[in-house]
Amino acid sequence: MRTTYCGLVSEALAGQTVTLMGWAHRRRDHGGVIFIELRDREGHVQIVCDPDRPEMFKIAESVRNEFCLKVIGKVRARPADKENANLASGKVEVLCHELEVLNASVTPPFQLDDENLSETTRLTHRVLDLRRPQMQKNLMLRYRVAMEVRKFLDHNGFVDIETPMLTKSTPEGARDYLVPSRVHDGHFFALPQSPQLFKQLLMVAGFDRYYQITKCFRDEDLRADRQPEFTQIDIETSFLNEEEIRGMFEGMIRTVFRNAIGVDLPGYPVMTYADAMHQYGSDKPDLRVKLKFTELTDVMKDVDFKVFSTPATAPGGRVVALKVPGGGDMSRGEIDGYTEFVKIYGAKGLAWIKVNDVQKGREGLQSPIVKNLHDASIAEIIARTGACNGDLIFFGADKAKVVNDAIGALRVKIGHSEFGRNHGLFEDKWAPLWVVDFPMFEYDEEEDRWNAVHHPFTSPKDGHEDLMDTDPGACIAKAYDMVLNGWELGGGSIRIHRAEVQSKVFSALKITPEDAKVKFGFLLDALQYGAPPHGGLAFGLDRLVTLMTKAESIRDVIAFPKTQRAQCLLTGAPSLVDEKQLRELHIRLRNAAVAG
Ligand code: AMO
Ligand code: AMP
Repeated sequence: MRTTYCGLVSEALAGQTVTLMGWAHRRRDHGGVIFIELRDREGHVQIVCDPDRPEMFKIAESVRNEFCLKVIGKVRARPADKENANLASGKVEVLCHELEVLNASVTPPFQLDDENLSETTRLTHRVLDLRRPQMQKNLMLRYRVAMEVRKFLDHNGFVDIETPMLTKSTPEGARDYLVPSRVHDGHFFALPQSPQLFKQLLMVAGFDRYYQITKCFRDEDLRADRQPEFTQIDIETSFLNEEEIRGMFEGMIRTVFRNAIGVDLPGYPVMTYADAMHQYGSDKPDLRVKLKFTELTDVMKDVDFKVFSTPATAPGGRVVALKVPGGGDMSRGEIDGYTEFVKIYGAKGLAWIKVNDVQKGREGLQSPIVKNLHDASIAEIIARTGACNGDLIFFGADKAKVVNDAIGALRVKIGHSEFGRNHGLFEDKWAPLWVVDFPMFEYDEEEDRWNAVHHPFTSPKDGHEDLMDTDPGACIAKAYDMVLNGWELGGGSIRIHRAEVQSKVFSALKITPEDAKVKFGFLLDALQYGAPPHGGLAFGLDRLVTLMTKAESIRDVIAFPKTQRAQCLLTGAPSLVDEKQLRELHIRLRNAAVAG
């Protein structure tokens, strides 16, 4: 039996005989002495193989990287000049008495400590990739986080109840993954985009406090923070209001950070959606970046410059400035680079002003656009942005969505850049906040209809019910998101618990009563039986752990993730299936080339 983990061998064990099991991370032959770095999930320790035990030494000579080994040996202090500060066990080593190869390994396709592996290589050989210490750390932390969440929720009376995976479509706004039914020709299950409807039914059923750490499935365009199947910490409670829910789950995240990584999160500012969009152009502002929008729409209505005056006078248009302190140092090349960057978000250009000498008025400004702006507008730009000599002001002018997306992304890009870090525009800290008071609906111009911003079961604010008929755009929801360092970590809402309000929302969304009955009849039905006031939220566990580990993508905290193209490189899924299986499922493929 193993007596301890490699990574836990410490000075406290000096003089003792230990039995270790692990993998040969590296083997070095120092002419006469062989050193094996033995690795297990807790870390590494150095094994010293002396030739004075010839039988053992012969085995040591045969050891190669990734052999699985059993070592019995004596712990001793390393000579002071040979200590390794990088290893937890760096002050000691194990003098090997007995060595057994439990299993040899073929030569791995890459060195485990190679920092420059492509993600394709890593995901194809995921098992070896997972052996790497960083990945072991990430997944161990993921486990710790999930445990802390469970402890907190259990302590607060939440019960873990499973909900179905083979179910009906839930409207979280993504495309469904469908599963054909063999028994019912032409019928399909949908994998849940979230357990939203079931957790509401559990509230109606009287369980009072529910949680689940569960998989959700969404067929959507993937990014660094999105996977087609991901894990939610999904929560629902009866009889708590918005503030009470936010307070409780701010407490949960705070507890998890403290207990899992020893971090005390700062207080959470509460910001309305309107303020977030106004100041940062984003409903998940990264508050580590110290740049804010300056509103100029009202100022630009009567300037000659059509690029500004057209959106400033058009409904739904917006003109903003983004002042970059010290940005006067930026080269034309850098400004051109940012101009290209904002085009990704649909911006048509990026006007700018360099403030050389604010005392000189228009003469003190360097810019391709000031010639088109009248004196009053220039004075207002300087006054509102508070620009000083040496600052740079960028401008965005377009439909509000384009301006918000483009200048919002520019704000983050500049903040995170080397320039931003050198000019104190980025503060390396934890920056959580709540974003609240989301609108109920957003207008979809292409489809000419209103869509639910959160989901259609979200309650409007008290007194906003009638706005659903008269002015849907002005109707505010009891919805909230938790944001951390510019990522949406979680979100939820108070739900509608009265069938008549639910029907009103469906009608605002142009879901006919017949359609509503087919799609959500079971929910509407349940709401009739004394449904309690209820609400909840869901956190993205993958995102939470990614932020905690400071990993670059959520794929680094998921054992077996999918690529950006929604494939599993390890197993080769998705893959073709037999004609026989398809026949049983009553499916004929449309693309004969694939079918063949
Ligand atoms: P929502 O759709 O906001 O809400 O999802 C909740 C949280 O889940 C995470 N998340 C994702 N993580 C990884 N990959 C994805 N594709 C992905 N999509 C979402 C995010 C997000 O904040 N039923 C509601 C919750 C509720 O109202 O209670 C829901 O699913 O961190
Ligand atoms: P133009 O008159 O098109 O040469 O543009 C003059 C300046 O305005 C250039 O610096 C452009 O990058 C910038 N610009 C053009 N369109 C926009 C826009 N929609 N928002 C902000 N700046 C713009």
